[in-house]
Amino acid sequence: TGSTPGELLEIAVRLARDAAATARRMRDEAIGDVQTKSTDTDVVTAADKAVERQVADALLTQRPGDGLLGEEYGDAAPVAPGAVRWILDPIDGTVNYLYGLPQYAVSLAAEVDGTVVAGVVVNAATGDEWTATRGGGAWRAGRRLTGSARTTLDQSLVATGFGYDARRREHQGAVLARLITRVRDIRRLGAAALDLCLVAEGTLDAYFEKGLNLWDHAAGGLIAEEAGLVVSGLSGAPAGNQMLVAAPPALFGALHDALVELDAAGGA
Ligand code: IPD
Repeated sequence: TGSTPGELLEIAVRLARDAAATARRMRDEAIGDVQTKSTDTDVVTAADKAVERQVADALLTQRPGDGLLGEEYGDAAPVAPGAVRWILDPIDGTVNYLYGLPQYAVSLAAEVDGTVVAGVVVNAATGDEWTATRGGGAWRAGRRLTGSARTTLDQSLVATGFGYDARRREHQGAVLARLITRVRDIRRLGAAALDLCLVAEGTLDAYFEKGLNLWDHAAGGLIAEEAGLVVSGLSGAPAGNQMLVAAPPALFGALHDALVELDAAGGA
């Protein structure tokens, strides 16, 4: 099989659908004893690992020369220049998954030489699917996505998320406490990949979060970009401990400036 963005997307969609089916099935089977597992996240960890293993095995059979960066097992092996590296979040929205809130997803992106060229996000609970190839636009159910037309911050519905680290949460809370008076409202839906897709389709006006991992935003970030949104770190640098911001061009400046100010004021 080849490695054009279109070909990679086709593979990604097939793998992500199968992965979503596994995640969904494991949740349905485990639902009776979710509460009796040894720790709160046991069921989630098992499903995360099973889904990642399934994608890794399929890739190894179909495309042995490719690399894989996954949330559960990390980087399988370094990839040669020009080779494809897949970036996988087996279950984005693990807390939603644990509680049965229908907002959890498989996120799979294909990267070549550090650039994401194809990506798919599948909501495993609902089957909704968002895709993009670099230069080929972002799509959901045959409809091309263009983001929201909102132009002012005070009329914008802005999504965000929280990392798991307590200090980071304190900082995120401090930023939110001040941002909430400047926007229409805030949403915390619990899956970064889906947040980015909802911004891409204009259901949410904008999204920001500090400290995402590459697997959280690789596919969703391309989908948002291809929908015409600005997706950027606060200082233009890639995300890491950075704040990632995704907003339509007309809104980006105002949100970015507010976040620069609040992020600095929030400390940490
Ligand atoms: C998390 C979710 C959440 C975001 C966190 C992520 P996970 O990913 O995307 O919405 O706020 O920063 O770590 O752990 O569910 O794959």
